[in-house]
Amino acid sequence: MYDLIVEDATIVSGHARYVADVCIEDGRIAHIGSRAAGRAREHVHAAGHLLMPGVIDGHVHFRSPGHPHKEDWESGSRAAASGGVTTVLDMPNTSPPTLTRANWDHKRGLAAENSRVNFGIWVGASAGNLDAINELMDSGDACGIKVFMGASTGPLLVDDRTLVALFETTRGLLGVHAEDEALLVALRGQFEGDPSPDHNAVRPPAAAAAAVKRLIDLVEAHHRAVHICHVSTAVELELLTRTRGVLPISTEACPHHLVLSADMARNADTATFGNRIKVNPPVRSEDDRRALWAGVNQDLIDTIGSDHAPHLLSEKSQPYWSAPSGMPGVETTLPLLLTAVRNRQLSLERVVQLCCEEPARVFGLKRKGTIAVGQDADFLLLADENAPLQALRASDMHTRVGWSPFEGIAMVPRPQRVYVGGRLVAANGAIVGDDVRGALVRPGDAAASAPAS
Ligand code: DOR
Ligand code: ZN
Ligand code: ZN
Repeated sequence: MYDLIVEDATIVSGHARYVADVCIEDGRIAHIGSRAAGRAREHVHAAGHLLMPGVIDGHVHFRSPGHPHKEDWESGSRAAASGGVTTVLDMPNTSPPTLTRANWDHKRGLAAENSRVNFGIWVGASAGNLDAINELMDSGDACGIKVFMGASTGPLLVDDRTLVALFETTRGLLGVHAEDEALLVALRGQFEGDPSPDHNAVRPPAAAAAAVKRLIDLVEAHHRAVHICHVSTAVELELLTRTRGVLPISTEACPHHLVLSADMARNADTATFGNRIKVNPPVRSEDDRRALWAGVNQDLIDTIGSDHAPHLLSEKSQPYWSAPSGMPGVETTLPLLLTAVRNRQLSLERVVQLCCEEPARVFGLKRKGTIAVGQDADFLLLADENAPLQALRASDMHTRVGWSPFEGIAMVPRPQRVYVGGRLVAANGAIVGDDVRGALVRPGDAAASAPAS
């Protein structure tokens, strides 16, 4: 007897759609096929509904430990679940930063106790923790090594010497915030007298391009897997076109770079709106935004991650130079992408590639990202394909900071049902299985053999 059978759903993979029953047992997909497969404790009738793998968001900044009043594992993971994200990979610029085994274990404890979705934990890179990095990577615990080439929120920043040492002496996936620190420092000096400069001029595309160039040289020399976070400009894409299929470089794009532009910040009636969408790397020009969409559709981008980086509105309403960078996004990624599907900017199959299949491949999560026998039962039933769009309201948000840069934008409703490990966590945006806890994901954990049915 199965725990659950989802009947007659239209299953969407990165390449196909087909109608079948999905049978769940012990948190895994035990059988996919016809009704004859067996009986279950619970049946969900899903005829006419689309079923896709849960979203894997490789890039969130939950704020615990350190700043739980901005986001903790409970609020952040509820936000994730509500928006169809069933696995999050958390960045290390918390307080303290995740630089040692003790830091990592502490964060793991907080997540295990509170996270409603599955979670992985990045280790941060600094000049002094290369041994800790190798221990955390060799044990298979950390999901990757996060490297800040340009300073952003938090103290993590590596100089070029440390960057080279990381390539030479560490093992595992390097995830990089690629902005060139020397250029950023020089430009900051130039703009300092201006109380409200254009953030896209203070941290321009050239800073991202310089860092990506440096990374390409290092990957060429060391043939080491690198994941470039938040690619946001045409110049970066141009550089990456040449390395595609040649070097082991994967790429991430973020919804805010696809949906927002610097013109919106500049034209906003209040300086506050501008600072709300202050983020590193900045939202870019309309030309860059169009180039990024082309990159998404031409396979120059592998994954979409939210770069969920919540800050309080009170912090965001400070003057430009004091307002922190970053904005919440984990719960709006999928609604925004499904809205783009309705607008024919990309296909639903491509969304499944970018949000599920490719993150699972890049991060080595073998039991995630696809609907197949033996896989973890992390999946979504989407709302009716013709459901009217809904303008996002602050009151819809689960993030502790309670606001979104996408407020007022009409988008596809949140998934009708969100399952983590075979258990219902969220329905139509509301949390319904608040007792569900996610599990740690580790790169390379072997795919399970199918449970007997
Ligand atoms: O805008 C950003 N905010 N960029 C980052 O790299 C970090 C993030 C944060 O943690 O606030
Ligand atoms: Zn970053
Ligand atoms: Zn980030």
